[in-house]
Amino acid sequence: MATAQKKNLKFVDFCAGIGAGRLGLQNLGLSCVGFSEIDKYAERTYREFFGQEEKNHGDLMKINPDDLPDFDLMIAGFPCQSFSVIGQRKGMNDHRGQIIYGLIKIMNAKNLPYFILENVKGLVNHEGGKTLKIILEELDKAGYKVYHRVLNSLDYGVPQMRERIYFVGIRKDLVNGNNFEWPKPVFPPDVQDYLIDDGEMEFNEKKRAYETFLKYLDNKYNKGLFKIEKLLKDDYLVLDTRQSDLRLYRNKVPTLRTGRHGILYVRNGKFRRLSGFESLLLQGFPKNLSEKTKGKIADVYLLSQAGNAMTVSTIEAIGKSLLNYINHYE
Ligand SMILES: C[S@@+](CC[C@H](N)C(=O)[O-])C[C@H]1O[C@@H](n2cnc3c(N)ncnc32)[C@H](O)[C@@H]1O
Repeated sequence: MATAQKKNLKFVDFCAGIGAGRLGLQNLGLSCVGFSEIDKYAERTYREFFGQEEKNHGDLMKINPDDLPDFDLMIAGFPCQSFSVIGQRKGMNDHRGQIIYGLIKIMNAKNLPYFILENVKGLVNHEGGKTLKIILEELDKAGYKVYHRVLNSLDYGVPQMRERIYFVGIRKDLVNGNNFEWPKPVFPPDVQDYLIDDGEMEFNEKKRAYETFLKYLDNKYNKGLFKIEKLLKDDYLVLDTRQSDLRLYRNKVPTLRTGRHGILYVRNGKFRRLSGFESLLLQGFPKNLSEKTKGKIADVYLLSQAGNAMTVSTIEAIGKSLLNYINHYE
């Protein structure tokens, strides 16, 4: 983990969600001086992590930049609904797609030095690549040299497959002779250290959804393919039901998503549902922080919020690359 800093870099957390991006940057010693989030349920979880006192600047489209303190870096996982492959493919014409313009307005008003933005991988091919091209052109016009790349969280410290596009922006007058280097992949940690909830998450015939699950095991696509007894012998096997399909994963978990709470796994010969606590761990939140939500935030919210979040360790790795670029370490 990074330590010594030349100067305490300050950032603002836009589209903050539950603050995974914030945590990744704080782990590098950067200071958060504000956040902006419109979803009150996400804000509730955010405050469990970061305290009740800070001001939420609210809708970033309505922020007067003069009301924000000065800061060096913007972090924003801007909403993906409008670009997502699962969305209606309305792209830049959907008002949510315009949030990028709200962010650019703030960058310019604050003469912001750096930013890290995140979005779904589907943005890359949206409208045959036109949407991405427009975003890159707009950021260039705003005065930034921009690097972008799709990274998989599985390569950056958690056992979760999660491909996302990241943008790192450097104000053109701050471009130096260094190469910006994307972080190097690391070997994923063991999934067993993440599937550790000791709560009542057992999934068996007493649960209503179990019958539906059995249908996934034995439908026209996978007749005779899966035997329950065999699956239950495979500790830490992860199971995901998707459309009519059952997918199995070993030592990793598929992408957490909002609206899909159907991830199961095997532990001690029993099926269990992935819990909200475990989904936070799989997004890189540490145990002590994730525990703060226990008994306070219902799983249905946590699973969806974790599905929307960035991965703490991926942002930490990208932030470290940016700090290296700007020679920020002593
Ligand atoms: C994809 S999620 C990003 C979550 C966040 N990066 C995290 O790690 O949890 C997008 C977030 O942007 C928020 N949002 C959408 N429009 C917004 C706006 N106009 N102003 C502030 N936040 C907004 C949503 O409520 C949602 O929580």
